[in-house]
Amino acid sequence: MTIAIHESALIRHFNTRKEVLRAWEERIGCRFSPFRGFKMPDSRLYIEDSDFLDSIVDLIITNERHVFIRGPVGSGKSTLMLLALRDLPTLADRRGNKFVTGYVGMTGLYEKQMAAAIADSLRVKYKRSWESTQIIDAVAKESLRRYIEEKSRTALFIEDVADNQEAAFHKLRFLADLPTEEMVDTFGKAQTLDEPIVTLVMSGTLMYWNAMLSFLPQIADRTEPLDVPSLNNAKAKEFVGRRIAYAQGRIDTFDPDTYDVYPFSDDSINVINTAARGNPRDIRMLARGCQQVAAENFRKNSDPTVDKKIASLVCQAYATILGEVQ
Ligand SMILES: Nc1ncnc2c1ncn2[C@@H]1O[C@H](COP(=O)(O)OP(=O)(O)O)[C@@H](O)[C@H]1O
Ligand SMILES: [Mg+2]
Repeated sequence: MTIAIHESALIRHFNTRKEVLRAWEERIGCRFSPFRGFKMPDSRLYIEDSDFLDSIVDLIITNERHVFIRGPVGSGKSTLMLLALRDLPTLADRRGNKFVTGYVGMTGLYEKQMAAAIADSLRVKYKRSWESTQIIDAVAKESLRRYIEEKSRTALFIEDVADNQEAAFHKLRFLADLPTEEMVDTFGKAQTLDEPIVTLVMSGTLMYWNAMLSFLPQIADRTEPLDVPSLNNAKAKEFVGRRIAYAQGRIDTFDPDTYDVYPFSDDSINVINTAARGNPRDIRMLARGCQQVAAENFRKNSDPTVDKKIASLVCQAYATILGEVQ
């Protein structure tokens, strides 16, 4: 028996589409689509709002509140967490304490998975056979030891926090409340144990924040929600400009004062950014949509530009989709 493999209409369609996009990319000197998603984020593509990053880091350092980085999907919460994680180990608080950091990026965790993920992220040893309570206990003891012996506070970053099982969620409360009264009784006389030793830095949507208010009011009361600022038009333009320069292999000479966003017009970016409400994930998606339309035009009339008209068309088409994911 022989099996004939025909090029299906679907495959042909995708190949043609790929060629059309490729021709547009080549025309503007790009080696790949400027708007593709990258598995490994590259810091040269980040538009840093250093004021906001500073406000997160300041809150952690002053140790008055836990932190909840709040914003819709795609607004840049994970990105900000990674930036704060990068900065913390180089800093000290006003008492001279340094920071040990841990990052839990997985979500949908059960109680024991959460306990194990926290221990792993903070490099605390435990046995596989242990119950979650024992694991969290080991984390607490080690955090106390690091505070007393190494003058190091612990900053624990947890992504999309309320996406985890409620029981897992409750494990955090114990850590948020450290030191325990027993610890203060035992060590407090020799040591100043008058402040929290573990700072939680959580992220999530407004819905997650509301879940925390109802499930863990004891933590929510002592947590500062910080809303991720959306990109303004100038920053949206830089976002597009950096990605184009990156795809052209020129990102290392990118100058934020003189770059251009050709073949996008400034107008088109304002339209995109308004529709995306300054959300970087949505800006990227809409810019990619614009690339597709512009590439089709380019095939017909050799003009690769993305103007206001194209942007409006694409934004209208995406309006429903964006509305649904929001
Ligand atoms: N300030 C920024 N500058 C450039 N790209 C950003 C910025 N913030 C987010 N992004 C990009 O937008 C996408 C979504 O960001 P992410 O941090 O994963 O959002 P969230 O965690 O809020 O869902 C990622 O591709 C990320 O690289
Ligand atoms: Mg995220």
